[in-house]
Amino acid sequence: MATQVTRPDYLIDLAVGQPEPDLLPVDLFRSLSVEQQNLAYGEQAGDETFRQVLSAWLSEDYEQPVNAEQLLLTNGSSNALDMICSQLSKPGATILVEDPSYFIALKLFKERGFNVVALPMDEDGVELQALEQAIQKYKPAFFYTIPSFHNPSGITQSYSRRQGIVKLAAQTRCPVVADDVYQSLYFGQKPPAPLACYDDNAPVLSVGSFSKILAPGLRLGWIQGSGDIFHRLKNSALLQSGGGLAPVTSALVEPLIVNGEFQKNLEYLRQIYAARSEVLLDGLVSTIGDQISIKKPNGGYFLWASFVDGRDVAAKLDEARQAGVSYLPGKICSANGQFPSSMRLCFAWYPQQQLMTASERLGLVFS
Ligand SMILES: Cc1ncc(COP(=O)(O)O)c(C=O)c1O
Repeated sequence: MATQVTRPDYLIDLAVGQPEPDLLPVDLFRSLSVEQQNLAYGEQAGDETFRQVLSAWLSEDYEQPVNAEQLLLTNGSSNALDMICSQLSKPGATILVEDPSYFIALKLFKERGFNVVALPMDEDGVELQALEQAIQKYKPAFFYTIPSFHNPSGITQSYSRRQGIVKLAAQTRCPVVADDVYQSLYFGQKPPAPLACYDDNAPVLSVGSFSKILAPGLRLGWIQGSGDIFHRLKNSALLQSGGGLAPVTSALVEPLIVNGEFQKNLEYLRQIYAARSEVLLDGLVSTIGDQISIKKPNGGYFLWASFVDGRDVAAKLDEARQAGVSYLPGKICSANGQFPSSMRLCFAWYPQQQLMTASERLGLVFS
């Protein structure tokens, strides 16, 4: 069976945003099976036993209590975002995003006919004053944010910035949709807890996924929330008609959480990715370090390198591909076409040796 993307052998494509196929723990799944009840239409929010198991694991990982009642299972974060768009907005609505942001979320918002407004970030996340002004000006359907190990910038919102965002959501009633696919992929210090953990009365949804912490082919994720918008999602026609979205997959993953295999595998992934991120960072520093600004990542999948001379990295992409290396130009990640001098580089897909080769090739292209 083919996967979503295939790449020629000569190319080290750091524009990917996926785990290396060899890191997918197929052996964990070989002995698993499902019960008859898992083949029925499932509970709308997802199987309750699974939600309890998941909420216990999340409570430990977040160091904050998460209740099974606050969880709604989805087919991953992309599906959750699509469901949220259906429930919270109409064509022509304004959506606030960070600049830069996850380029496929930007595509999703455009496909739905939304007006996308990009807000500046600093090293603690979105700038609060800009967010407050934009909420007043545009009356947006929601603000989309990636709080931890941001795709593509790698920024993690500080605790006080998170408090500020949740407070604004509570005051203005502007919903916040936090895409937290990298929350649990920390290499050292944990990020502060997801935005949905701070105030049950604020209209905040945090979206999680097993894609980066177990396997994307599971198509399994969750929305954490409470209140009116969470209730609307749970009672959507989609779930009333089809029942819960993942009865079979959640039944497969449940024993892996209970027996600790999931946690063991996740700790292994954190170590592998941390080592790969260091190799790529060191490689880039030694080849093009004098030309770029770049920060050590503390989690997630990406390095964000910005050329200080303001050059347009997209113009070099063909040459780079001919040299056997690729990257995601920053402009693609901006609703405003900003960040022409930045590139997103993924360290999750390739083993260390290839990451070193990729840095050397980038060194040749940009020398
Ligand atoms: C910020 C962000 N959101 C969502 C996704 C997709 O997640 P899922 O596989 O759970 O749909 C990705 C994957 O690259 C991502 O980086």
